[in-house]
Amino acid sequence: MNTLRLDPSTTLAPEWVSAADRSLQLSDLFADLRMSLQPTTPLRRDESLARRTTLRVGGPADVFVEPAGEDELATVLELARVHGVPVFVLGRGSNLLVRDGGIRGLVVSMQHPEFCRIEVSGERIDVGAGAYLRHVANTARDAGLAGLEFLEGIPGSVGGALRMNAGAMGSWIFDVAETLRYVTRRGDRVAIPASEAGARYRGCPLLVENLAVGAVLLGKPAPRTEILGHMTASNQKRWSSQPRQPSAGCTFKNPRPDLPAGRLIDGLGLKGTRVGDAMVSDVHANFFVNLGAATARDVLALIELVRGRVREANGIELETEVEIVGED
Ligand code: EPU
Repeated sequence: MNTLRLDPSTTLAPEWVSAADRSLQLSDLFADLRMSLQPTTPLRRDESLARRTTLRVGGPADVFVEPAGEDELATVLELARVHGVPVFVLGRGSNLLVRDGGIRGLVVSMQHPEFCRIEVSGERIDVGAGAYLRHVANTARDAGLAGLEFLEGIPGSVGGALRMNAGAMGSWIFDVAETLRYVTRRGDRVAIPASEAGARYRGCPLLVENLAVGAVLLGKPAPRTEILGHMTASNQKRWSSQPRQPSAGCTFKNPRPDLPAGRLIDGLGLKGTRVGDAMVSDVHANFFVNLGAATARDVLALIELVRGRVREANGIELETEVEIVGED
């Protein structure tokens, strides 16, 4: 098995380690990446991230790369380490708010087809970090495997879902995960029983530092018509209770299982509240939608406004579920 040879000091967090010589470091990194990766591997400077997030706001990535599999990922991380450039890993961008100044350093997208594989073997489905959850749900349905229907309703990829233990309709991804595969900051490739990952509501601490590269999910054989019925019900519930405009899903974590943030915000009459083109959805108050020309600054101001109103009225400090990254 290849080892990624990451130095323990290599950061996977979006913080710049050394401001000096940034432009030179980035140019050198870019040149080395171009030489080391296949010519067809997407590699760009100043890549807009707004179109790579479902909320459709945010500035550019200094350098953007989409490695074609684990070997190229190893090369990318190694070169980033050598050049002292911080790395941010991007999934589907469905739970992400990128600030308007964008992300300094290297953004690694896990959306290359090599990371999007979905392979069924009996009751198990081996999925890459880049695979869309909707595609996983459809594959499970076609294979006659029940229990993964809820994934249809989450607009993200496997990697992001594992990192935040995404869930819908009463189930979480770690409920159906048997094995988790990740890469450590030291560069080792690890596979562990998913039950040992320490996943909890909207979080998996293990995947804050480490990078999920795939998982084995477990389904239960069932008639396809039954599975299709569950998926249709889940789909209908979602379309009737969640907005269709661009958003990053739920903005805040629910403060308690019996106290949904959406109900709290709705109770204060805040549906329809706007800052610029960012608006508290009039369908579900925990979704903040982009009406077309919203900026990250608008969304952040709306988050603070709503947080302040909930604090004042209920004495509760809402915690964002959306991951906020990048520079102003
Ligand atoms: N509610 C209101 N007003 C609203 C929104 C909700 O009164 O504007 C009430 C609902 O009527 C319901 C309760 O609040 O009684 C809970 O609402 P919902 O069933 O929509 O669930 P939620 O807790 O708001 C969670 C997840 C969603 C997931 C749904 C459906 C969190 C933060 N959110 O929402 O996940 O899709 O359940 O299973 O846990 C996400 O993580 O981005 C996300 C959208």
